[in-house]
Amino acid sequence: MLPKRRRARAGSPHSAVASSTPPAARFPDVALYLAEPRMGRSRRAFLTRLARSKGFRVLDVYSSEVTHVVMEGTSAKEAICWLKNMDTPLPGHPQPALLDISWFTESMASGQPVPEEARHRLEVAEPRKEPPISVTIPAYACQRPTPLTHHNPLLSEALATLAEAAGFEDNEGRLLSFYRAASVLKSLPCAVTSLSQLHGLPYFGEHSSRVIQELLECGTCEEVEQVRCSERYQTMKLFTQVFGVGVKTADRWYREGLRTLDQLREQSERLTQQQKAGLQYYQDLSTPVSRADAEVLQQLVEAAVRQTLPGATVTLTGGFRRGKTQGHDVDFLITHPEEGREIGLLPRVMSCLQSQGHVLYHQYHRSHLADSAHNLRRNSTMDAFERSFCIFCLPPLHQTALEGASHPCQTRRAVRVDLVVTPNSQFPFALLGWTGSQFFERELRRFSRQEKGLWLNSHGLFDPEQRRVFHATSEEDVFRLLGLKYLSPEQRNA
Ligand code: UTP
Ligand code: MN
Repeated sequence: MLPKRRRARAGSPHSAVASSTPPAARFPDVALYLAEPRMGRSRRAFLTRLARSKGFRVLDVYSSEVTHVVMEGTSAKEAICWLKNMDTPLPGHPQPALLDISWFTESMASGQPVPEEARHRLEVAEPRKEPPISVTIPAYACQRPTPLTHHNPLLSEALATLAEAAGFEDNEGRLLSFYRAASVLKSLPCAVTSLSQLHGLPYFGEHSSRVIQELLECGTCEEVEQVRCSERYQTMKLFTQVFGVGVKTADRWYREGLRTLDQLREQSERLTQQQKAGLQYYQDLSTPVSRADAEVLQQLVEAAVRQTLPGATVTLTGGFRRGKTQGHDVDFLITHPEEGREIGLLPRVMSCLQSQGHVLYHQYHRSHLADSAHNLRRNSTMDAFERSFCIFCLPPLHQTALEGASHPCQTRRAVRVDLVVTPNSQFPFALLGWTGSQFFERELRRFSRQEKGLWLNSHGLFDPEQRRVFHATSEEDVFRLLGLKYLSPEQRNA
């Protein structure tokens, strides 16, 4: 958008010509500034001398006195961003005109400032007033499909960064506003090119709209860049990426002045076993896991489960089930069609995997399912399944027989794996809960509670008024019970 021209146009430039005026002040209403970025220093010096020789005032340093900024080979968008980055003029001070070099050369040729015409001006065409996006976007992410790849990644990532930063400051309200707006952008049927398109969409408040506007105009947003570069954000991101470290712990360490992983390692007496393992394998664990890695791990887990309890099944959940090609970990759900047979399964599966040398670290949590209705009623987001938070050693991929079977083409590496065991009757809810995305799940629970008066978690669906739990045999059932259109895992990337 064009900055408002508040420059007072003091009469026609032609009236300023007076041969008796000393050269430096021939056009007292005109103060030029030649902006260097594309012009280059020596050309700028040459043009400055030329203009001065013709009686133009050329300022070496940009200030609020400047009336005309001249640029060469610069797009209007760039020019406007450049102006934004200069110190803003004092309140009430006029903004200079942003002009292309053509205005300058014509003025030099005619020996006086020529009238500024549209063709000289570096203006972004009045932003196209695109009509608002015509599709209706429902308020909850679980009411609309959100594909993995969408049309607005730059915009949604910028808002997600602000949401994440708000989370680091424990500002839940702000985190949610930004995540909700980011998620709406992911579900739009086209790329947003003008702010006017967002009119009428849910969750675009003043702040998110301002960020989007700046991104559309300049390609970057200063607030987002500042956050990304800040020591606080970078350190919190670094610390929370360590397995076993949450926001609260990261914040405490930050406030104590800790900034690096080595500093954490020096304080090993304060670390949990999980955090020690997280630091030990940090490098590997911060390298994305590929789908191929996930499939290799699935085969390992399936073999161990088959050996321990024939008939038990292993399902890959999490981001990979939503179609992601990379992940930060691999999530598996284990169950057996005969309810009860799964009890005590996990320790046996773990010792099988351990004896095969696949386990670098694991922390076992026994089931708290004894009263699963109780788990539902307390409406906790942390589920009570039997589970193991593990670090597995990914076996090296072997080259094909042709290339020589015995030479590993990849060194062994550590990978985070979550194994969760669920009774068969809770499997659809567990599958829905563990498929994610995390924000999708959050929205699903909010929708259930606020719109249907029902409590949903990874164990089941509960009606607190009638004090009854619902039965479901598939994810489709759960969507139906909530009165929602079914969304496949690939459409849950909210
Ligand atoms: P993840 O954190 O593994 O995320 O949680 P992801 O979508 O697979 O993405 P990656 O791994 O970063 O690539 C997967 C799902 O499991 C649920 C989360 O809510 C999310 O929906 N989950 C995770 C739980 O229900 N409980 C937990 O303790 C952890
Ligand atoms: Mn995952």
